Amino acid sequence: MAALAQPQKLSDADFSRLSRFIYKECGINLTPLKKILLESRLQKRLEHLHIGTFSAYCDYVMSPAGLQQELVYMIDAVATNKTDFFREPVHFDFMREHLLPAWYANRPSGTFKVWSSACSSGEEPYTIAMVLEEFGIGHPLSYRIVASDISTKVLKKAIQAIYPMQSVAQVPMALCKRYLLRSKDKEGERPTIRMGPRLRTRVEFKRINLIEDITGIDNDFDLIFCRNVLIYFDRATQETVLRKLLSKLRRGGYLFIGHSESVHHLNLPVQQVKPTIFRKL
Ligand SMILES: C[S@@+](CC[C@H](N)C(=O)[O-])C[C@H]1O[C@@H](n2cnc3c(N)ncnc32)[C@H](O)[C@@H]1O
Repeated sequence: MAALAQPQKLSDADFSRLSRFIYKECGINLTPLKKILLESRLQKRLEHLHIGTFSAYCDYVMSPAGLQQELVYMIDAVATNKTDFFREPVHFDFMREHLLPAWYANRPSGTFKVWSSACSSGEEPYTIAMVLEEFGIGHPLSYRIVASDISTKVLKKAIQAIYPMQSVAQVPMALCKRYLLRSKDKEGERPTIRMGPRLRTRVEFKRINLIEDITGIDNDFDLIFCRNVLIYFDRATQETVLRKLLSKLRRGGYLFIGHSESVHHLNLPVQQVKPTIFRKL
């Protein structure tokens, strides 16, 4: 029987090299408290690549070949992808009760454009699609949803659109019946659900790193979700990212942030409507 690989220790020096590199590449600010987490998350990459030490892993990921081939896997290992359907429902209530009726009254023949800018495995944009589809029952609506994330792993999951049965506990039964399909996991054992074709075809997924120049995306969105990602950035990065997102929002358009996030300390051209809801001035 082959011997199991010994778990490696991440030294303070290698942690500091990696955290500076991660900050530069994706804006994620890893405090020293995250050292153990990083060590355990990257362990599998060392095993997969048959690399014996973290120091050799650092050399590899920062080399030209590593930047091309390993960086995406390292980001997948580092980013926290927790999400849910109808997470932080106040945003979806606000869309239904205020934003969509007001938008529709002014521009009933236009296209409502939404960007879910750190969409993880797709629960957020598919929730948006359900809300827009439901609104469209009473008000014929043309809409476009763009959803993006830095992690290729979560984007693959999002495009597949297959989720464990328990993950739709927050989705009202009527919506489950209308928009979801029963499915099976890869092994054909556990029951799962899949977003139906109506929703799948309505969300356009892209890989976008929010700290890089954002090109090839519209600049007249009516609504941008930037939820539960700002928390990983330091103040300067938060301000840069939000200014970039606001430049893609039309005047009067809305920005939603996560409930544990705040923009009070930043100087942005927005008016606060609710604690996590802002309108571009
Ligand atoms: C905690 S999830 C939030 C998902 C969803 N917005 C929500 O609130 O449920 C954070 C997501 O941000 C993504 N992320 C982290 N850094 C990013 C960056 N620089 N650019 C784009 N996405 C990033 C991660 O890959 C992860 O999927």
